[in-house]
Amino acid sequence: MEVITVTDYNEMSIQAAEYIISKVRSSNSINLGLATGGTPLGLYKYMVLDFQKNTTDYRHVISFNLDEYVGLSEVYPNSYHYYMKENLFNHINILDSNVHLPNGNGASLQKECALYDKLIKECGGIDVQVLGIGQNGHIGFNEPGTSFGTKTHVVKLTESTRQANKHNFDNLDEVPTHAITMGIQSIMNSREILLLASGTEKSTAIYKLLQGDLNEQFPASVLQLHPNVTIIVDEQSLSSGISI
Ligand code: GLP
Repeated sequence: MEVITVTDYNEMSIQAAEYIISKVRSSNSINLGLATGGTPLGLYKYMVLDFQKNTTDYRHVISFNLDEYVGLSEVYPNSYHYYMKENLFNHINILDSNVHLPNGNGASLQKECALYDKLIKECGGIDVQVLGIGQNGHIGFNEPGTSFGTKTHVVKLTESTRQANKHNFDNLDEVPTHAITMGIQSIMNSREILLLASGTEKSTAIYKLLQGDLNEQFPASVLQLHPNVTIIVDEQSLSSGISI
């Protein structure tokens, strides 16, 4: 794993944007795996600013998001569909038909999961997958204990994850209990992974990611097995005394 240490959240976001933008500019066709949450907001902000300033072209980009809540309408502001439109897709020239998120409202969620993996495969797989990390080491919504062999699947969210995501909702009861997430195997199939982390609340997770054991109780540890992972972290998220 290549670790790039930066001073703060803003610097992490700038470096991540430069990384993704240079990949987009230097390819004729690229499949991006995208994440939600607070961490990539700065990345998306700088991608939008770059688009406005430099008109970087996204018409050849196909995107696949990691996850989506079950049962939230796409127009509901807390759905990840809405988040992606608001923060990125509405502000760059990516084609609507090239944008994909799991469908948490399908009649058969199992079918939706299988379809999502099939679609990713048919499009040639993911070239670069952007990841955040949960405080308990979750990636996507793959909670501790998830098998490293999982494909896209339905998950029951842990109470700690629902609590961590509560700030976006009116109250805890409104936070969905389930989500669809790309599985750990689906994430590991990406040719390249870019993981971002910022803030002291992520420092234990980053410590375990870089220096802990490979363990399904800490899902992100699977990245130790991936041949092409870049991690951009700020100094606060390295505050658990990691020596790199
Ligand atoms: C959420 C998302 C993850 C995200 C993580 C961290 O539950 N499903 O994809 O990486 O939690 O979120 P944040 O970036 O807000 O800390």
